[in-house]
Amino acid sequence: MSERILVVLLLVLNYLLVAEGGTADEDLSTLLSLKDTWKNTPPNWVGSDPCDDWDGIKCKNSRITSITLASTGLAGGLSGDIGSLSELETLDLSYNKDLTGPLPQSIGELKKLTTLILVGCKFTGPIPGSIGKLQALLYLSLNSNSFSGAIPHSIGNLSKLHWLDLAENQLEGNIPVSSGDISGLDKLHHAKHFHLGKNNLSGSIPPQLFSSEMELIHLLLESNQLTGDIPPTLGLVQSLEVVRLDTNSLRGSVPPNINNLTNVQDLYLSNNKLTGSLPNLTGMNALSYLDMSNNSLEPLDFPGWFSTLNSLTTLKMENTQLQGQVPSSLFGLVNLQTVVLKDNKINGSLDFGSSYSNRLQLVDLETNSIDSFKQNDIVPNFKIILKDNPICQESDKIQTSSYCFPSQPNVSYSTPPNNCQPGACSSEQIPSPNCICSYPYTGILAFRSPSFSDLENKTHYLMLEEFLMRSFKSHFVSVDSVSLSNPTKDSTQYLKLNLQVFPSGQDHFNRTGISSTGFLLSNQTFKPPKDFGPFYFLADKYDHFGNSGFSVSSKSSNIGIIIGAAVGGSVLLLLLLLAGLYAFRQKKRAEKAIGQSNPFRRWDTVESNSEVPQLKEARLFSFEELKKYTKNFSQLNDIGSGGFGKVYKGSLPNGKLIAIKRAKKESMQGKLEFKAEIELLSRVHHKNLVSIVGFCFDQGEQMLVYEYVPNGTLKDALSGKSGIRLDWIRRVKVALGTARGLAYLHELVNPPIIHRDIKSNNILLDDRLNAKVADFGLSKSILDCEKDHVTTQVKGTMGYLDPEYYMSQQLTEKSDVYSFGVLMLELISARGPLERGRYIVKEVKKAVDKTKELYGLNEIIDPTITISLGSTLSGFEEFMDMSMRCVEEEGGNRPKMSDVVRELENILKSAGVNPSEESVSPSISSSYEDVSRGSSTHPYNSNDTFDFSAGLPYPKLDPQ
Ligand SMILES: *[C@@H]1O[C@H](CO)[C@@H](O)[C@H](O)[C@H]1NC(C)=O
Ligand SMILES: *[C@@H]1O[C@H](CO)[C@@H](O)[C@H](O)[C@H]1NC(C)=O
Ligand SMILES: *[C@@H]1O[C@H](CO)[C@@H](O)[C@H](O)[C@H]1NC(C)=O
Ligand SMILES: *[C@@H]1O[C@H](CO)[C@@H](O)[C@H](O)[C@H]1NC(C)=O
Repeated sequence: MSERILVVLLLVLNYLLVAEGGTADEDLSTLLSLKDTWKNTPPNWVGSDPCDDWDGIKCKNSRITSITLASTGLAGGLSGDIGSLSELETLDLSYNKDLTGPLPQSIGELKKLTTLILVGCKFTGPIPGSIGKLQALLYLSLNSNSFSGAIPHSIGNLSKLHWLDLAENQLEGNIPVSSGDISGLDKLHHAKHFHLGKNNLSGSIPPQLFSSEMELIHLLLESNQLTGDIPPTLGLVQSLEVVRLDTNSLRGSVPPNINNLTNVQDLYLSNNKLTGSLPNLTGMNALSYLDMSNNSLEPLDFPGWFSTLNSLTTLKMENTQLQGQVPSSLFGLVNLQTVVLKDNKINGSLDFGSSYSNRLQLVDLETNSIDSFKQNDIVPNFKIILKDNPICQESDKIQTSSYCFPSQPNVSYSTPPNNCQPGACSSEQIPSPNCICSYPYTGILAFRSPSFSDLENKTHYLMLEEFLMRSFKSHFVSVDSVSLSNPTKDSTQYLKLNLQVFPSGQDHFNRTGISSTGFLLSNQTFKPPKDFGPFYFLADKYDHFGNSGFSVSSKSSNIGIIIGAAVGGSVLLLLLLLAGLYAFRQKKRAEKAIGQSNPFRRWDTVESNSEVPQLKEARLFSFEELKKYTKNFSQLNDIGSGGFGKVYKGSLPNGKLIAIKRAKKESMQGKLEFKAEIELLSRVHHKNLVSIVGFCFDQGEQMLVYEYVPNGTLKDALSGKSGIRLDWIRRVKVALGTARGLAYLHELVNPPIIHRDIKSNNILLDDRLNAKVADFGLSKSILDCEKDHVTTQVKGTMGYLDPEYYMSQQLTEKSDVYSFGVLMLELISARGPLERGRYIVKEVKKAVDKTKELYGLNEIIDPTITISLGSTLSGFEEFMDMSMRCVEEEGGNRPKMSDVVRELENILKSAGVNPSEESVSPSISSSYEDVSRGSSTHPYNSNDTFDFSAGLPYPKLDPQ
């Protein structure tokens, strides 16, 4: 005990000594006054020596030299007192979204400041002119705030400045350049980065801004309101690597001497009003990414010199009056990944030549005049879009040729587990790639101009992960692993990735860990691989610094114990009691908070709550329950998988079998979407629809629990895979069941529901071979559609897709009717709608001869139904007539589903079968269980469904 008292005495002595230095004292009072204006300062900011390990503070010789408090939830303003920290070199308050108000004039007093980083806060008002007095400043990042007003001329005085990032604010006025005694950005000869994009800057780009003395490598002026010509002086800045002038109102022609910029990798001039002809850019031999889209260039024959740009990965020339033929030599460029030439007048034949780039991912020639396509006997494994070209005018081409489908490659990536099996984590913890549960530091890593565009290529992400880990290691930031996911390109072509950084050794980061990790990313200590280009990081607030409020520093706990020992056991007891009480209250509060953030909170008590009647049949399952019912999601119970994740079979304690669709991380919906889907599913009850039993929204999982339908899909039954033999009458009954399910969705549910993905894979057969319609994943309620009926995304499956819907993007019930008609033809032929390049609708229409027996379709009819019955298929002609009506080109000529139901009932009646009678149990050669486990496609799969979202009128200038 005496040792402890000694420690305390020494500490007290230490405080006294430190307080002696006058200026250190001033630092303390400044910091305390800042602390008064801030909320959520670190809990260990107590005592009188900030240099004694206060989180986020660093000192030299008892003077404060660095304040780094990224992502700590700091709230309030930045008071003018900051100017008194006269030794301050580094100020980083990034990622505190509640830091607001203006940047004080007195910031200019910080004569030693080298680094000022306020990324992703909410600062407002003008950038003070006094910033020009920060003579030592190397690094200035004020991006992603709400600064307004003009860029101060005085920034031009920062002669050492290396990095200038003012992007994503509301700055306006001209780009300042010097005149007479007034300085401007042209004086920043050591600056390597001008990041001024996404502001409201106006006026022309001053020719004076550029000179051969500059060392600029990244010039980012995109998404402003700049006018006038591109100054030819740009060609003088030989060091440039990335030039983004896109999405402005620049006029005139492209100056030919930018051909002199031999280091430029990325050139974006798109979305301007450029005129004239495109100069010969063969000199730009580093050029990887060229985007000239949406300008008013003169009509131009496709330039042959594009094929000489050996580094080219991406060529975008949308809506630029290009004409003539694309030479096949273009596709021979070895790095080529993306070619977008939409809305031009390109004609003739499309030919990829004999050796095209194996990195090609997308060739988009939508809305041109291409009339033929030379396939050279190879089926390319990249996406080709020829929608709205003469070649895609026939409706059967739409069905048979994937290039007539306007879908974009579906990019998904998520760092995979590192040779381990991620288990379930508690509460908000997340398993790291090393399968350790913890609270990661999260945010968005955004790359403003990557020079690649093959976002499906995992190599890029693996490299980035590697670089991140290396950077953390070499700067002694203790990190277990990093995870990247969900790469997307936003409307300004920034590549954005979700980043999670996992702590090492414990399940959370302490404040030091967050501030050093945040700083590493905010001040660009981390350097990504070169082809990623300039980046920024926008972190989320970090909320898991251990048991907040209860992390008393070691000093005060020592004192507590000493006081306790000195004053007596009773006080200690009291302290413990208080602590217990406090912890109890915190727990209650936490429970309450969790309850409030759970959108399904009320559903839990559905039995006693009459407010949510539409959910009375959907039960909320906990993760633990489903884990038990599926024997810990064991391999044996894994009965299928698809794009969305996996399907497990399970059994409830009462013996009822269930099928659980477990979404994988990337395919999870937002809470509200998920809730909407469950609401939709639990609104429908019909014996010909697969019913939902419940759902799970727990521990970061999204699962839907359905009744288990034992006999698999109609598709498997028709193909013979499941050992079920469907005779003619059974097929008519399956059609009838499906039709009844659909008629119910269209005509009895209010508002009606359109299924959007009727196909044999989505029709399940129960133990009596009754049809049950499954997979409402794409369903849309009519109400939703009416709101945005023009922009409804075209979704569905090739071969079943209604051509009218495809053309008009207007979704009606009649689209389901078309798909149903295709399904009827499938029932007759036992063939997929698209097999060996043949489209069943076209084949049947061609072959039908009503004068002949079985309409002359002997070649097409599945032999298994004629084998026993010969040509006496009762009601075959009526069935065929109905299917032909369903696949009419125009929706208006197709019947309603209730008409179909009536007709199918009549067919059964004439055949002497009571249509309302349940089917009898079939005799099946093998056990159902083995069959459904062994089959490769599962009822709940929707693997081959795809998304035609790119078919929409493409917004050219997306508001950000
Ligand atoms: C382009 O660069 C060459 C040298 O590489 C130089 O001689 C020429 O003057 C430059 N042209 C322009 C217009 O700057
Ligand atoms: C483009 O310029 C290169 C050399 O600068 C020249 O060889 C080539 O012929 C030019 N191409 C066109 C189409 O003008
Ligand atoms: C993926 O990217 C890497 C790095 O850029 C490249 O070397 C590789 O060829 C690419 N792979 C494919 C399949 O395109
Ligand atoms: C914070 O965490 C790091 C690494 O996990 C550790 O080395 C350091 O001692 C911790 N700091 C405090 C004040 O707990």
